[in-house]
Amino acid sequence: MNQLFNQTYQNKKVLVTGHTGFKGSWLSLWLLLLGAEVVGFSLEPDTDPSLYRELVLEKKLTGIIGDIRDKDLVESVINKHKPDFIFHLAAQPLVRRSYSEPHLTFETNIMGTVNILEAVRKSNLKCVIVNVTSDKCYENSGNACSFSENNPMGGYDPYSASKGAAELVTSAYRNSYFNPANYGINHKTALASARAGNVIGGGDWAEDRLIPDFVRALSKEEDIIIRNPHATRPWQHVMECVSGYLHLAAKLNENPAKYAEGWNFGPDKNSVMTVEQIIQKSLELWGTGMSSALQVGKAEPSGSSLPLRSGNYKIISDKNMKEAAFLSLDISKAKEKLGWQPVYDINQALEKTISWYKNYYFNKADSFEFTKQQIEEYCSNYAPSFP
Ligand SMILES: NC(=O)c1ccc[n+]([C@@H]2O[C@H](COP(=O)([O-])OP(=O)(O)OC[C@H]3O[C@@H](n4cnc5c(N)ncnc54)[C@H](O)[C@@H]3O)[C@@H](O)[C@H]2O)c1
Repeated sequence: MNQLFNQTYQNKKVLVTGHTGFKGSWLSLWLLLLGAEVVGFSLEPDTDPSLYRELVLEKKLTGIIGDIRDKDLVESVINKHKPDFIFHLAAQPLVRRSYSEPHLTFETNIMGTVNILEAVRKSNLKCVIVNVTSDKCYENSGNACSFSENNPMGGYDPYSASKGAAELVTSAYRNSYFNPANYGINHKTALASARAGNVIGGGDWAEDRLIPDFVRALSKEEDIIIRNPHATRPWQHVMECVSGYLHLAAKLNENPAKYAEGWNFGPDKNSVMTVEQIIQKSLELWGTGMSSALQVGKAEPSGSSLPLRSGNYKIISDKNMKEAAFLSLDISKAKEKLGWQPVYDINQALEKTISWYKNYYFNKADSFEFTKQQIEEYCSNYAPSFP
């Protein structure tokens, strides 16, 4: 594990914004396992349960609770901690919420990005930055295709537009202040952006996301509601995109001029499934092996909040909220130029995800150890090239 990413992160100071969130918690834990000193900057976790609390990360890293929209605070954090690496994940990440709170979404996702980049610009720090945006940053005309990095930015709904705009901000800062051609001459910042697809994995309890909604419904013995059964998404396990961020930043650190651009991190083509297929497969996995899980588990089956049942799902469409029917990412650039590649296919990603929740609700083995083991197992299958 320590040998991964060329030991880039060992004893390095790494700022993770959004460290209390789903992806941020996985990334922070992985960085800690790689020997990094992690500083986190976010709001308090806004779900209960939360992965951040489950992993007791507040005891393992320097966590700063603050608002990314507060530019003076962001500046003071960067000046005080002088990170070698910044992974910027703090965002309002939900499409449905962006419809009801567009101002908050634009301010957090766009000005939050400006605040980070501006603080680094003013500090003249030697730093590698990965700005995490989304597959939704691309203009989606509705013609089913796979987006590659040179497709135009866009965004139909406020969330997607905010991520498209965050990409434009990143590109403007890179052209104007952190130009790769001038690295080492008038700046020391290597800036790239990472566009990942729909992420699944243990420990996500956010609203309006498929797997968290699935787990919540089963826990309340309610039907699972799905809104866009035929929508396809580039589903990937959270470790895939996190490995992409870590891999990209390590490459940027080695060669700041070569990799300072936008990168897609998604699954292989065979991992694109419809929402309905994901639910059907998850229901299958939820039932499979459950009785043995209960037998070996420390929890009393009767005391568990999740009864053994197969569950039903209902399709309820929401005509007020438009979401793209088809999203897919072309990841050939990351494969060819970074030497990065996904490890799990969709079936393995779902199996790891559902087994995480089954452990949480039934077996109750320590979540920190369970998550750490999942990362270690992933790493043992990870074979990136670091020329
Ligand atoms: N989960 C996905 O499927 C997915 C897909 C593509 C891109 N992304 C992007 O990945 C990043 C992380 O997403 P996630 O799934 O972990 O979401 P999450 O909701 O679990 O975490 C969001 C994090 O951002 C922080 N945050 C939100 N508003 C903030 C503010 N005003 N100030 C400071 N911190 C703030 C939260 O405290 C939290 O730590 C986001 O940028 C999101 O847009 C997520």
